[in-house]
Amino acid sequence: MKYSKIKTGCIDGFKVENILVEIDVNSRSTQQTFKIVGMPSTSVLESEKRVTSAIRNTGFTIPNGSIVANLSPTSMRKDGSHFDLPIAVSLLEASGQIKELSEDYYIFGELGLNGEVRPVSGISLFLMYIKERNQQAKFIIPRGNQGESKFVEKNEVIVIDSLKDIENISLGILDDYSPKYEDIVQPSYNLDFREIKGQIFAKRGIEIAASGFHNVLMRGSPGSGKTMIAKRVPTILPDMTREEIIESTMIYSVAGYMNTIIDKRPFRSPHHTASTASIIGGGAVPKPGEISLAHNGVLFMDEFPEYRTDVIESLRQPLEDGEVTVTRAKSVANFPARFMLIASQNPCPCGYYGDKEIECTCSLNQILNYNRKISGPILDRIDIRIDTPRVKIDELMSKEDGESSEKIKERVSKASQIQIKRQNKLNGKLSNKELKKFAVLSEKAEDFLKQAAINLKLTARSVNRVVRISRTIADTFDSKNVEISHVSEALNYRGRKII
Ligand SMILES: Nc1ncnc2c1ncn2[C@@H]1O[C@H](COP(=O)(O)OP(=O)(O)O)[C@@H](O)[C@H]1O
Ligand SMILES: [Mg+2]
Repeated sequence: MKYSKIKTGCIDGFKVENILVEIDVNSRSTQQTFKIVGMPSTSVLESEKRVTSAIRNTGFTIPNGSIVANLSPTSMRKDGSHFDLPIAVSLLEASGQIKELSEDYYIFGELGLNGEVRPVSGISLFLMYIKERNQQAKFIIPRGNQGESKFVEKNEVIVIDSLKDIENISLGILDDYSPKYEDIVQPSYNLDFREIKGQIFAKRGIEIAASGFHNVLMRGSPGSGKTMIAKRVPTILPDMTREEIIESTMIYSVAGYMNTIIDKRPFRSPHHTASTASIIGGGAVPKPGEISLAHNGVLFMDEFPEYRTDVIESLRQPLEDGEVTVTRAKSVANFPARFMLIASQNPCPCGYYGDKEIECTCSLNQILNYNRKISGPILDRIDIRIDTPRVKIDELMSKEDGESSEKIKERVSKASQIQIKRQNKLNGKLSNKELKKFAVLSEKAEDFLKQAAINLKLTARSVNRVVRISRTIADTFDSKNVEISHVSEALNYRGRKII
C-alpha cells in the first residue's frame, strides 16, 4: 500500500475542525523528498524533520521515493505540533511497516527526535469536540496529556510514550496503554475566611456577591484587608458542576496548561501592567487570556485604576456577554469568559482619603481624577461596592476566629441553587429584561425603593443594581418575593460617594 489516511484535528479559536492526514508515497520517483502540503504553518512544516528522525530512531525506515503529506481540508491554516504523530503513523501505514489502524482513531502528539511522544496543548478540547460529533471516536494521545482524557470513556483512549508503541497498538496489544488519573492533584487554597477579623460588613457584602456571582468593587485604605478578602472568595463559591469543570479544563488546555483538570474555581490576579492581549486573549493563533482562565471563578484586579485604560475598557464586552471575541487578521475566536470580577482600589492616590486616623494628602482634583479612571459602563456592571475601613488594632489582635469558609460556602451554595432552579443562571448574570421577570418586589418593597430612589437621587441604573442585589439578598433568606428588608440591605452596597 502506498497511500494511507489518519484522522486528527485542528484548533480554531475555541472550536475543533476535523483534519485528515493523507500520505502518498511514490516509490518510482528517483528523488528522496518529503513534503507537507495543505496550508501548514511554519511550525507544522518543521514536523518533517521530527517525523523523519523519530521514524529512524525507533527502528522503522523512511521509504524511498517522494513522500507527500496532505492536511485536508486545505482551506484551513494548520497550526500546532500535534500533527507529528498522525503524519508519522500515516507514513508507517502507507509503507506497510505497521498494520492499518481502525478508522475510529483520532491521533495527536508531538514527536521528539528520539521517537518520544510529547504532550501538546488542546487535548481536552479535541476529545470533547470530536466525541460530540462522532460517538465511535477513539483517541491516541501522549501519556503526558492523559489527565485531560478524564471526561471520555477510559477504553476509548490510548496513551503512548513512544512512536514504537504504535506497532503494538496496530496489532491490538493495548494492555499497557490505558490512561491513569491518580497523579493529578490540584493545589488547595489553604486560605480561609476564618482568618479575617472584623470587617463584618465587607464579609456580608462578599457573601451576597458570591451568592449571586455579582461583580464587586472594594474600596479602602492600604492594609484594610482587601487583597486578603479577595483571595478567599473561591473558598466560599459553590463546588463546580461537571459541565463547568469540563469547560474550564478545555480553556486551560487550549491555553497550553497540559494535564490539568480544573475542578476548583479559578482565581486569577493579573498584574496591573498586563497588556490587553494577555487579559482578554490574543496572539497570531488566538489563545485565551486571563478573563477566560478566570471563567467560572474569580478575576481579581487589585488596584483597579492602575490598569491601563484600554485594558479596563476591554472588559466591557465580556462583562456584558460572558464571552470574549478575539479578532485576528485571519480569524475570529470566541472564548468563554463568565467570571466574577473583584476589583479593589484605594479611595485616592495617597490611599487615605476618608481614613479615620491618617490624613489624606491628595488634592481634590487628584481624588476625582483617580476615581474617574473607571468609566460609567464598567462601573455599571459592578453590582456591589464595598467600603473597607481599616480594622482597629484591638480587633486585629483578637484571638477570636471569624466564621469558616466552609460555613459560608454552605449558605452561598444554597442561595445559588435557588437561583439556578428558578431561572437557570445566577442573578449577577441576568440581563435587565430577565431581572424584571424574576425579581418580583412586594408592593411595599416597591414603594420603599421608589421613595429611596427619590431621597438618595438614584439613577435608573443604580435602581436596577439595587433590585438585582435585593433579589440575591432575598435568595440568601430563601424568600420568594423581594421585601423591604432586602431592598434596605441592598442600598448599603452602592459604595460611599466620593466628595
Ligand atoms: N480584617 C483583617 N483581619 C486580619 N488581618 C488583616 C485584616 N486586615 C488587614 N489585615 C492584615 O494586614 C495585611 C494587609 O492586608 P491586605 O489585604 O494586603 O490589605 P489591602 O489589600 O487592603 O491593602 C494582611 O496581610 C493581614 O495581615
Ligand atoms: Mg492589596
